[in-house]
Amino acid sequence: MNVATHEVDPTLMRRAMGQFATGVTVVTAVTTDGTPVGCTVNAFSSLSLDPPLVLVCIGTDRRMHEVLSSAPGYVVNVLADHQQRQALRFARSGEDRFGDVDVTPGRHGIPLLTGAIAHVQCDRYDLVPGGDHTIVVGAVRELQVHDGQPLLYAQGAFLHLPRDDWHTALETAPQEWLLSAPW
Ligand SMILES: Cc1cc2nc3c(=O)[nH]c(=O)nc-3n(C[C@H](O)[C@H](O)[C@H](O)COP(=O)(O)O)c2cc1C
Repeated sequence: MNVATHEVDPTLMRRAMGQFATGVTVVTAVTTDGTPVGCTVNAFSSLSLDPPLVLVCIGTDRRMHEVLSSAPGYVVNVLADHQQRQALRFARSGEDRFGDVDVTPGRHGIPLLTGAIAHVQCDRYDLVPGGDHTIVVGAVRELQVHDGQPLLYAQGAFLHLPRDDWHTALETAPQEWLLSAPW
């Protein structure tokens, strides 16, 4: 067992955080001259239902950080299990990220990635400093939900649950948890 002391080892920090499984999103936005930008982000969370707010944590050295500091909004594209290639493409510097990626325009002309299982279209609501990242809070304005299973990420790896496992999980979940979780 590895235990952190006061001086937190960045590698241990990364490993500990990697034990927390997440989905994977691509956050998209447009620059002031209308150029699309996108960045793979797993630090995404629902924040509030009333008003509807979400947050993403963006590293201050990311190109996306500069864009979101002035952009009117952003879109969280929740990736489906077959979109691992997109997750990698939107994480690699120097790639032509939108090259052959199928998109449609959303609010503010921000690209919506085709194949995503949810599009969360936000206006920028607040920016909260958080060390080497900024918490970018978005006010949700439009939502689209599509059929499909989510791409998962944990311990530095992408995961796909077999369809049958999803179906079993959904069938055995308490009905009151589905769609109307009380928290
Ligand atoms: C699975 C995965 C999750 C990531 N999550 C985040 C994140 O939550 N926040 C962030 O700032 N960067 C995250 N990144 C890294 C960025 O995607 C990457 O640094 C960025 O796209 C680099 O592009 P840039 O050089 O144009 O800024 C993640 C990368 C991967 C592969």
